[in-house]
Amino acid sequence: MTKPTVKVVEIAFARLQAPDLDKMEEFLTAFGMFKSTRTETALYMRGTEPSHHLHVTHKGEPGFISFAYTVSSEDDLKALAATPGASGIEPLNEPGGGKRVRLRDPFNGFLVEAVHGIEVPQPLPVGSRPLNWSADTLSTIGEPQRLQFGPSRIKRMSHAVLSTPHLKETLAWFRQTFGLLATDEFYKGERSNVVGSFNRVDRGIEGVDHHVLNLYHGTKPGLQHVSYEVQDIDDLFVGFNHLTRLSKYEHMRGVGYHVPGGQVFDYWLDPWGQMHEHWLTTRRFTATSPLNLMPAPKEHDPTSRFAQTIMPHIGV
Ligand SMILES: [Fe+2]
Repeated sequence: MTKPTVKVVEIAFARLQAPDLDKMEEFLTAFGMFKSTRTETALYMRGTEPSHHLHVTHKGEPGFISFAYTVSSEDDLKALAATPGASGIEPLNEPGGGKRVRLRDPFNGFLVEAVHGIEVPQPLPVGSRPLNWSADTLSTIGEPQRLQFGPSRIKRMSHAVLSTPHLKETLAWFRQTFGLLATDEFYKGERSNVVGSFNRVDRGIEGVDHHVLNLYHGTKPGLQHVSYEVQDIDDLFVGFNHLTRLSKYEHMRGVGYHVPGGQVFDYWLDPWGQMHEHWLTTRRFTATSPLNLMPAPKEHDPTSRFAQTIMPHIGV
């Protein structure tokens, strides 16, 4: 691969569309996010880490508008703005401010935003539920730490997953444009027949998540799910209990464990069938971690309801 245009730092937020912002706010609050701000036409939700928003919902027909990667400098925005088909550098005229370049992948039309300079707020306190139980807290006989019922507390966005009929070309575009690196890939039949690919950001020797983007071969292009990291394993299970007890939202899959990347997952649908994941990782990868190519596991079934739950892409 030739030198990528930029190396993105992280995934910043997803931009979805839904007809009822009250209902979306209720779902996302139960899912574990916190309202950052809301306008007449858009809802901005955040996590406990210092990010102005990691989930935006615009009012309209349900669907997926875009997702955004953070870049580290305005020079990176300039480099992206110079690529074919990219927008110029434009102000983000919405809460949090900042600047962006919009890029559209040439094979599916997926809209990706590269953002920089969005306001960075203070982190939110995680509250009274204890984190990271240790032998010390567990051994306090007679004074057990009681978990409190309630939603998970989302920390940050972790990744987005796209279905595409043009896997090879789309992968090449994302890697060349944003500097993503392949972590794990699944093949069917011949080793060259890759059907799914997990890609991470390149931060050199710094350990990063197993993937910030998963692309898999599917007949319909679209966003399959967006994923958010929770505080810890207690937080994930307490959040699962909370959503289960509410009996209001559809549970798609989990709680389970993805062995290749060492991630705990739990998938829920919002009121319009858009999939959101609670996620925790147990492994980090650096820029030199080798690609792991392996046969597609049974769970990678492109005809399953899980794989076929796709948010349609809204071109704007
Ligand atoms: Fe995921």
